[in-house]
Amino acid sequence: MVKALPYYAPASLSAAFYDRVTAADSRLAGDEALYAGLAPPGGSILELGAGTGRLTAALAARGHEVTGVDISPAMLQQGQARLAGLAPDAGRRARLVRGDMTALDLKRTFDLVICPYFTLAHVPGGAAWRNTFATAARHLAPGGRAAFHLPSLEIMRRPGPADPTKPVLDLPLDDGGRLRLFIQERRFREGINRLDQVVEYVVLDAAGRILRRSPERLTYYWTAPQPIAEAVGLALDGAPVDLGGVGEVWVFRRAMPATPAAP
Ligand SMILES: C[S@@+](CC[C@H](N)C(=O)[O-])C[C@H]1O[C@@H](n2cnc3c(N)ncnc32)[C@H](O)[C@@H]1O
Repeated sequence: MVKALPYYAPASLSAAFYDRVTAADSRLAGDEALYAGLAPPGGSILELGAGTGRLTAALAARGHEVTGVDISPAMLQQGQARLAGLAPDAGRRARLVRGDMTALDLKRTFDLVICPYFTLAHVPGGAAWRNTFATAARHLAPGGRAAFHLPSLEIMRRPGPADPTKPVLDLPLDDGGRLRLFIQERRFREGINRLDQVVEYVVLDAAGRILRRSPERLTYYWTAPQPIAEAVGLALDGAPVDLGGVGEVWVFRRAMPATPAAP
């Protein structure tokens, strides 16, 4: 077994190259428009696991007031730089804060809570999932929605590449070098629905020499979300929406308070 860093750790290549790798992932096309369509025009949005601010910035630029929360300083640092590059009016509508989505209380509510791009799958499928749904419910205005993008269980079960020496991603870098990603280990555990992967990031210079390499451990968990959501007062709001064929966005709604019957 290789000694691996946790994903998005300080000095990790997964954090440093997050935007480059994500920009190359066509399976995310459409997530921004999907989330924007779940909030009222100009409505407020809380993003759980905001990372480098990809969606926090984009949704603020669309006119929403967005708070993004993330646990990783390495990701937030890049996110703050992205927000600083927004047009002034959008910049005023966006903020990023450090926090743990499993134990967050901002003492306010939002029209929409989003937990995009498999972020919920990064935390263990028991109490951490329940606490994240409780966070979503606590921060939702009555009638507001919460959207969770979860990986497909069927794809989590797939074995790793037959040849681990062949990159699963090979991207050109601006300096003429390349970034290559290799899956070194991949194991899915049935019953607990847990996928463990070691992804190695390798940076090469223009001559093909290795400049840096960083093996990183990524674990994904999956649990049926609907019972957990219902336990905190969130009802499923339509069928889960397929995103890029690798996962689904599950949308829930917090009930409006009952209107008292007319006398
Ligand atoms: C796949 S990235 C998604 C980033 C961003 N939402 C996007 O769509 O580009 C997952 C993010 O979740 C964050 N994360 C993982 N566990 C977290 C937790 N318990 N609380 C807050 N953020 C967390 C990671 O630091 C990482 O930035």
